[in-house]
Amino acid sequence: MDGNGRWAKKRLLPRIAGHKKGLEALQKIIKSAIKYNISTVTLYAFSTENWNRPSEEINGLMNLFSESINSETDKLIENNISVLVLGDITIFTKELQIKIKSLVKKTSKNTGLKLNIALNYGARSEILMAVNKATKKKSGVLLEKDLTENLYTKNMPDVDLLIRTGGQRRLSNFLLWQIAYSELYFIDTLWPDFSEKDFVNALYFFQNTERKFGNLKVDK
Ligand code: IPE
Ligand code: MG
Repeated sequence: MDGNGRWAKKRLLPRIAGHKKGLEALQKIIKSAIKYNISTVTLYAFSTENWNRPSEEINGLMNLFSESINSETDKLIENNISVLVLGDITIFTKELQIKIKSLVKKTSKNTGLKLNIALNYGARSEILMAVNKATKKKSGVLLEKDLTENLYTKNMPDVDLLIRTGGQRRLSNFLLWQIAYSELYFIDTLWPDFSEKDFVNALYFFQNTERKFGNLKVDK
C-alpha cells in the first residue's frame, strides 16, 4: 500500500492525512476482495524499516492502528473476516499489543476472508526466525516444510498475486519466501487513489497470466 505520503504532499496536507485516506481505500478493497471471493488478503502496513521515519509520522501511524482497531472490530466480525498479524508486535506499546491480540482472538472463529496485517514485518527476519525455530525442533537437514511451518504465514497457501501501488518496482522485504512463484503487479496509482476498478484490473491481469511453475507451456 505505497504512496500515502505523496498523495498528501500533492495536496499540501500532512503525511498522516494520506495514511488516513489510505485506510479508506483499504476498506473499499476489502469489500471487493469479499465480493470477488478472494480467500486471503495480506497487507504491508508497517515494515521493520518504517521505524526510521520521523517520530511524528510513527506516532500518527500507531494512533491510526489503535483507532482503527476500535472503530473496525465490530465491522470485521459482522463481515466474517478473521485477522492475523504477521510480524513481531512485542515492540509496540503494551496497550496496542493487547488491542491487537484481542482483535485476533475476537475474529479467530470467523470463516470468511482471511486478513493478514504485516506490522513491524520484514521478510529476512521472518526467514531467520523460521530457520532458528526449525533448527531448535529438528537436527539434521531442513526441508522446505520445516521452514514454512515456522513462518508467520504457517498453514497459508503461497501468494498468488502481489500488488504494489505507488510506482516503485521493488519488493521492499515483503514476503520473500512466500512470493517465489507469485505474479507481480505494479501500478503507478498512489494507494489512497487505488479503486475497485484498479483492483479488478489487477485480478484480470492475474487471470490472464499463464502460470507455469517452472514447467513447460501446457497445450490446451
Ligand atoms: C505507505 O505509504 C504506507 C505506510 C508505510 C504505512 P508511504 O508512507 O510510503 O507513502 P510515500 O511512498 O511516501 O508516498
Ligand atoms: Mg513509500
